[in-house]
Amino acid sequence: MLAGTKFAAEPMATPALGEPYLLTPGPLTTAYSVKQAMLRDWGSWDGDFRAMTADMRRRLLALTGDANGEFDCVPMQGSGSFCVEAMLGSFVPRDGKVLVLANGAYGMRAAQTMQYLGRAYTLIDKGDYLPPRGDEVAAALEADRTITHVIAIHCETSSGILNPVAEIAEAVYAKGRKLLVDSMSAFGAIALDVSQIRYEAMVSSANKCIEGVPGFGFIIARKSELEAAKGRSHSLSLDVHAQWAHMNKTGQWRYTPPTHVVAAFLEALRQHEAEGGVTGRGARYTRNRDVMVAGMRELGFETLLKDRWLSPIIVTFFNPAHANFAFDSFYDLMKDKGFIIYPGKLTVVDSFRVGCIGQMDEHVMRRVVEAAARSLKEMGVDTAAPPAAAIAERAKLAA
Ligand SMILES: Cc1ncc(COP(=O)(O)O)c(C=O)c1O
Repeated sequence: MLAGTKFAAEPMATPALGEPYLLTPGPLTTAYSVKQAMLRDWGSWDGDFRAMTADMRRRLLALTGDANGEFDCVPMQGSGSFCVEAMLGSFVPRDGKVLVLANGAYGMRAAQTMQYLGRAYTLIDKGDYLPPRGDEVAAALEADRTITHVIAIHCETSSGILNPVAEIAEAVYAKGRKLLVDSMSAFGAIALDVSQIRYEAMVSSANKCIEGVPGFGFIIARKSELEAAKGRSHSLSLDVHAQWAHMNKTGQWRYTPPTHVVAAFLEALRQHEAEGGVTGRGARYTRNRDVMVAGMRELGFETLLKDRWLSPIIVTFFNPAHANFAFDSFYDLMKDKGFIIYPGKLTVVDSFRVGCIGQMDEHVMRRVVEAAARSLKEMGVDTAAPPAAAIAERAKLAA
């Protein structure tokens, strides 16, 4: 162990000895062995590191159920947004047009990315509460024959809503268009199996449901789309085709790779497999959510979303109406008890979020609820019920 660090040997079973749990959508609480995997330096050109990159690409592809070898995995330096930009800039032709399906901040960021790219797009914006549905997508594609691609956000992390990508994919391909998926916060815990859901490319990153540390993302795309992407990118460093071609030829990343992050990610992938892959990981997160949401509801908190749309990734709660409640104080009191929660990211009402992902299990989630109960008490808040206006707004918009 590094001098001065305070990691618990078993973070899921033991409080992290002074290190708070991150109840956030990533970066998140990682396993000790994942942190430990970063204690060695690697030469980026060396055969050992090239083998690690190849192993990582193979393991990630295996998570998509690509039995026919039609897809390939392209890791890309940078955070998730870099990879979304790389995907849009590489797979959407310069004269293409994208239908962006937005119901929160990350859908809106995809639209903003299209603006920066200077490529045509149109938007379905469902606000904070509602998923884009297949029939709406079909109608939009029918109405505008110039749309070539659709981008859907798998789990819209700003609210925690799990969008119906299977239904969306059906609508997209029934109209002869192509689907791109931002599965940043879902991939690894919620199935995105290419034999079940058709898409051309998807993107996710190291520090989400695989439980690695931040530093790169990855694009998994149909090889035919990777071929077709040649020469299309607006950006030298975010050119997915160029990264793919270079990696396949040399085994190396085009520019300096985040070597330690890759080493940590491989360990995270091993743990993911040991937990039962996507199914096992998704089951733990679902249990985390169910235990946490049930406990928070007992305290009077209400979720933004109806149960049907609650993801096992992150849950948004309305701020309580009580006059003594202030999010900043609640945040500090929760942190004192070892839990870092997340501010809300809604456009209309005040809210906060609690993540269910990372090295935490239901026992930790029970302690989260206890910490919330104690924090409310310390603030002099006897019920966490939200303002009637928030509920009325939700009912109105979700009607
Ligand atoms: C769905 C989704 N898309 C895109 C991003 C952007 O990723 P990053 O913040 O790593 O740039 C996030 C981040 O949480 C996300 O959840």
